[in-house]
Amino acid sequence: DRTSGLVVAVDGTSGSGKSSTCRAVASRLGLAYLDTGAMYRAMTWWMLEHGVDVHDAAAVALRSGEATIVSGTDPTAPTIRVDGTDVSGPIRGEAVTGAVSPVATVREVREQMVALQRAIIAEATTTGRGIVVEGRDIASHVAPDAQVKVYLTADPAARAARRAAEEGGSDLAATEAVLRSRDEIDSGRETSPLTMVDGAAHIDSTHLTLDQVIEEVVTLVRAAEVRA
Ligand code: DC
Repeated sequence: DRTSGLVVAVDGTSGSGKSSTCRAVASRLGLAYLDTGAMYRAMTWWMLEHGVDVHDAAAVALRSGEATIVSGTDPTAPTIRVDGTDVSGPIRGEAVTGAVSPVATVREVREQMVALQRAIIAEATTTGRGIVVEGRDIASHVAPDAQVKVYLTADPAARAARRAAEEGGSDLAATEAVLRSRDEIDSGRETSPLTMVDGAAHIDSTHLTLDQVIEEVVTLVRAAEVRA
């Protein structure tokens, strides 16, 4: 018998379908859900709001402790608050999207976010059935003991096409260039870069539908539940 819930770590590049997949898997299986990218975005929103130069790592490090970030874990209604303000909308805007990669490279920011993430995971696994956590460093750093580890990728061109379809008529080549440059920063940074760990299941979603990806992850989670 199990005394603690399951942790499902889903890491991967932006635009690979992580969020849609993770939310669907969590709500289908009755698990909590945590979007760690939203937390880095919320920190970035706070920096912009307070006039901090996001390219000044020392300034970002110095001020990061002032922001109080609270994430909801309901997969059907994800929420994120900074100092009490719901920032779910603004964190998806261009200003935050364009500034988040440098903020996420700052060690002090990462330490603060990882501590919060581990507390949320501990809560969800001791009081509930478990949690699906999406990000870049979940299996490699935040939750290395996760029972399920998924590395989700897709070709940049496929990701750009999906993004452009979502946004309606935005420039494909430009979207692809932005995705590639974010991939480079996320994978090349010194602190907790995006990497695939041993034991992770690599799902390449380039030629899969969202439903097919969801099915694959659900199958992995059910197999882990049987083992537990
Ligand atoms: O997944 P996303 O696009 O919302 O992520 C936003 C940014 O945060 C992106 O630049 C990668 C970074 N990130 C990170 O460094 N570590 C995580 N665990 C999640 C996101």
